[in-house]
Amino acid sequence: MSGACASDGVSVNARPRSRLHVPILSAVVFVLLAALWAALGRIGWRLPQLPVPLLGQHGALMISGFLGTLVSLERAVALQKRWAYAVPILSALGSIALFSGLPGEIGRGLITLAALGLVIVFFFIYRLRSTIDIGTMAVGAMMWLVGNALWLSGQPAYHAAGWWAGFLILTIAGERLELSRVLVLNQRSRDFFKIALGAFSIGLLVSLIIFDVGVRIGGAGLILFGAWLLRFDVARRTIRKDGLTRFIAACLLPGYVWLMIGGTLWLIVGGTSTNGFLYDAMYHALFLGFVFSMIFGHAPIILPSVMPIDVEYRPRFYLHLALLQLSLVLRVAADLFAAQPVRQWAGLLNVLAILFFLFNMARSVRRRPAA
Ligand code: HEM
Repeated sequence: MSGACASDGVSVNARPRSRLHVPILSAVVFVLLAALWAALGRIGWRLPQLPVPLLGQHGALMISGFLGTLVSLERAVALQKRWAYAVPILSALGSIALFSGLPGEIGRGLITLAALGLVIVFFFIYRLRSTIDIGTMAVGAMMWLVGNALWLSGQPAYHAAGWWAGFLILTIAGERLELSRVLVLNQRSRDFFKIALGAFSIGLLVSLIIFDVGVRIGGAGLILFGAWLLRFDVARRTIRKDGLTRFIAACLLPGYVWLMIGGTLWLIVGGTSTNGFLYDAMYHALFLGFVFSMIFGHAPIILPSVMPIDVEYRPRFYLHLALLQLSLVLRVAADLFAAQPVRQWAGLLNVLAILFFLFNMARSVRRRPAA
């Protein structure tokens, strides 16, 4: 989700060449809206009955349908090979299949195939550029594959959720590394990063055998990741600049804090909560606090890398950021105090923050003139 570039055939700043990005991105937005609708139902809002089974698919639609498709599209653009576009297409089709009334195995199977495809795409990217950032994102893709394989094999969603979180967290951490000009990368910071990655990965592996212990070890890894990003990312310095640079830093810094909060919850709660309030806080501190803060910050750079558009920075971007942060504080507090009505309203505000973000992006988009 970055805009850096490389001179080795893997251009992360590649301009989109394929006509496929328009239908794929349309499917991404459609699936995101379906996931948000399901989120409102899951958090307790009574919504009009739909003829399709949506509620149970909320997590999978968010992780794979929305973000998995987006990450795969971005990597297909970077690799500049037509076959690589099969990956986002598979994950978008699989996600739509999930709520189209077809047998669940079809959607799950297509999405698992997409994750396998992303691992293969990373294999080719890594052969062209064997760096720590690509390696980290490749491990993230493997985590998506393991999470989806667990889910395909009929394991409950909470067994897959940690692996899915790993996919998103490692993809983002790798992309921050990819923008190595924004990170102070000395040997110490690399070692710190490897320890965080090791602790988190070991935690997930242990969770396959002793779920509770593994989640707690994974939590320690997440705290280290957050501390690493807070310590070594230049966001602490760029927050003093202005315009888009400052806005991005204003998204990243609270995102890193949410990563540490999520990690702390994993460490304390472990595998003892597999649904309900604490489970909600453990995962949404990561998914909304970390992942969506990163998306808000990076969207003005990512969108032009996958579409022929430019995004003009506007100070009103701070409004959707503030709404997300405040509503998430409210939601996590409501989770900790088991206050369902407050959690329900906070969830609605979370959804509004995301819709407001989409609206603000759409208003700031300009078609890039043909070269
Ligand atoms: C936008 C507001 C959101 C709301 C209102 C919401 C609501 C919920 C609720 C109520 C649950 C069930 C928790 C429980 O057992 O009580 C849940 C689970 C989950 N959510 Fe969200 N969520 C939101 C955003 C997200 C985002 C952005 C992601 C991922 C990027 C995400 C991924 C998941 C996952 C993976 C699960 C667990 C799997 C499952 O049970 O389906 N959610 N969400």
